[in-house]
Amino acid sequence: MPKASLEAVQAFLPKESQPWKLRWAEDFQGIPDATKREAAKLLGMRPEDISLTATTSSGLQVIAQGFPWESGDEVLAPLGEFPSNVWPWKALAARGVSFREVPLWEGHKSGVEAWNSSPPPPEADAETRLLDAITDQTRVLALSWVRFQDGLKLDLPWLGSACRERGVHLVVDGIQAVGTHKPDLTGVSAFATGGHKGLLAPQGLGFLWTDAEFRALLAPVGTWLSVEDGTNFARPSTDFQRDWLADGHRLEPGSPSLLACVALKASLACLNGAEDGAIEPHVQSLQGSLLEAISGDPTWGMEAARLQGLREEDRLGPFLSFHHQGRGPEFLNDLLQKGFSRGIYASVREGYLRIAFHGMHTEADVDRVAAWIIG
Ligand SMILES: Cc1ncc(COP(=O)(O)O)c(C=O)c1O
Repeated sequence: MPKASLEAVQAFLPKESQPWKLRWAEDFQGIPDATKREAAKLLGMRPEDISLTATTSSGLQVIAQGFPWESGDEVLAPLGEFPSNVWPWKALAARGVSFREVPLWEGHKSGVEAWNSSPPPPEADAETRLLDAITDQTRVLALSWVRFQDGLKLDLPWLGSACRERGVHLVVDGIQAVGTHKPDLTGVSAFATGGHKGLLAPQGLGFLWTDAEFRALLAPVGTWLSVEDGTNFARPSTDFQRDWLADGHRLEPGSPSLLACVALKASLACLNGAEDGAIEPHVQSLQGSLLEAISGDPTWGMEAARLQGLREEDRLGPFLSFHHQGRGPEFLNDLLQKGFSRGIYASVREGYLRIAFHGMHTEADVDRVAAWIIG
């Protein structure tokens, strides 16, 4: 978390212990509204299309539960999505909605076979495979903008436009890239994220962006804040003759955590304060330096070349996913532990060592990471 976010939480905490000091317009309404404005600014979209949600999962659940499904409908997804983008759709089985996964490249595997998967090559044509898999039953294509294990970044405007042409809704789990990369939401119906990765906020609050026409299709979540005049106490709260709100409130869960909002708001403001679009090339440049530094390494040279190819094709998000190349979990975990002992915190998922960069990292960090990897 940025220092500014920690300070914002500290400044707000006394109000939580003396809640009579909370002001209605300025705090209860003003803080969430300002958080949404920052979120909208980050995406380059409208604040009224933002809903504050606890997590990525809860944003996706709102869509899964609210969409007007008919029995026989299908949700399509890339093979091996993070479970947040699988269980909300699988939970619809009892309503006759099926969930189908599409391998994105030759040799792509997941589940119990995940460690035996080959990694994505630079020439992977994941988008064409996904679009070719659409059938007359497909209502939603649900995918991660950047995949959690192999780090492949999918082309949102290409998929969004093609989905629109086919009458399919593109629903995006954006958590692995938002904050470092700016999404182009052309043709996208929904974009969900938690706040605790690239958005640099604590766990427990994120947001969901929805296209206004798509949102109108969704059943409202049904809370006292998702109807007109919900906070107008001059009108009896028990007057239930009200319209649902059309904006992002329609999909929100009730009273927001103001404490989480002040942190997310400050983190988003910090990201928005960076020169427009400056974080992404900075991250790409650090990635390039790391790959260059280890290109001659006998263990990692081949992976560095594959990742360099993906980087040149603009296929990477904020992290480099080094495939284990048959070396197995013990090898990667051993390396990970050696990193921890040097104060380098990377992670291992499904056969990949993930090394992430953000705006705060420097070339000096790259040198430390390279020295660790090369050993
Ligand atoms: C692609 C992806 N989606 C979602 C999540 C997290 O989901 P949630 O915000 O629901 O905890 C993660 C990782 O934690 C992830 O890698």
